[in-house]
Amino acid sequence: MLYPLLRSALFKLDPEAAHERTVRTLNAALAVPGMATIIKNMYRPATRGMQTTIAGMTMAHPVGLAAGFDKHADVTYGMACLGFSHIEVGTVTPRPQAGNPKPRMFRLAPEHGLINRMGFNSDGMDVVAQRLANRPTGLPIGINVGKNRDTALDAATADYVAAYTRLAPHADYVALNISSPNTPGLRQLHETSALQELLGAIRDANTTLHKPIFLKISPDETPAQLEQVIATALDYGISGIIATNTTITRPGVQSTHANEAGGLSGAPLNALSMATLRTVVALTEGRVPIISVGGISTAADVYARLKAGASAVQIYTAMVYSGPAVVAQLTWGLAALMRRDGVKDITQVIGSDHAS
Ligand SMILES: Cc1cc2nc3c(=O)[nH]c(=O)nc-3n(C[C@H](O)[C@H](O)[C@H](O)COP(=O)(O)O)c2cc1C
Repeated sequence: MLYPLLRSALFKLDPEAAHERTVRTLNAALAVPGMATIIKNMYRPATRGMQTTIAGMTMAHPVGLAAGFDKHADVTYGMACLGFSHIEVGTVTPRPQAGNPKPRMFRLAPEHGLINRMGFNSDGMDVVAQRLANRPTGLPIGINVGKNRDTALDAATADYVAAYTRLAPHADYVALNISSPNTPGLRQLHETSALQELLGAIRDANTTLHKPIFLKISPDETPAQLEQVIATALDYGISGIIATNTTITRPGVQSTHANEAGGLSGAPLNALSMATLRTVVALTEGRVPIISVGGISTAADVYARLKAGASAVQIYTAMVYSGPAVVAQLTWGLAALMRRDGVKDITQVIGSDHAS
């Protein structure tokens, strides 16, 4: 209700400064006794008939936080209080690194988009692991890992294994990010031999903990490339696919910052992310769950992704434009759509586009 006012104040700030202020303010509020309960009640999501199970993890409803908002596990509890059903921390790199020079995040306000070229600014795995020792319980927390910028591409696997080894004990699942457009060469890890090496090494590292491993893919692969990626992922026993990261394309955006380098997210990514989801659903044939991400901003978007075959969704950019009530809005809106259609349980929605 009040968010339009707050948003106009936040939008006067540089986007990254606005992000940092939001995180600081939420954490300060939560330090006040009793405040967590007030915030949780204020933003309570719909959960009845909403439970979804993915790779053995139970989620109270389908809407989670995408990687990139809580890169360093600074605001994990705060995001849990805003109602997210699962939180993906990261991307975390093995060693701390600063990321690209600022400014590196841009609002495309008329189009409800963002362009970012953060470049994996990370506190590094040791600091993040320490923070996660006090992680909130009661919801799945994924940790999204990547390589340091100055690690050569042919040494990337060692970075992923190092980050997996340090962080997996604190995670309910681990996401391998091979799809950020802002670390030079990273997306080449979609290529079959590189992907085989990475997934083989992670599979070997995972023989003790047996954590679900997700692969986060780019929306800019061709259908033929996607076919290879999914075949390889299935061969190596991946637990699920997260589709998608940001796009380097610029579908239908014209506002001031449209030509900034980086990955585009938010509403302009919606169609591309949906198309990728449909391709991945067809290629996986129900063998592994899919988390759909990219341009989701309304309950109808969530409903469409689930019907297309996603078992859960994640959002980032919609929170910038819709504010802290976004999870409540999406889940209560989803409940209304299910009621309209006479559907009692989310499991009846998932993949229903394909029901004969
Ligand atoms: C500022 C910003 C930083 C991001 N950082 C990461 C990241 O570190 N790792 C990652 O896998 N995705 C990252 N993403 C991508 C999001 O997780 C998500 O895939 C993408 O934004 C599409 O979802 P959305 O349209 O709901 O924002 C970032 C996105 C934004 C906007």
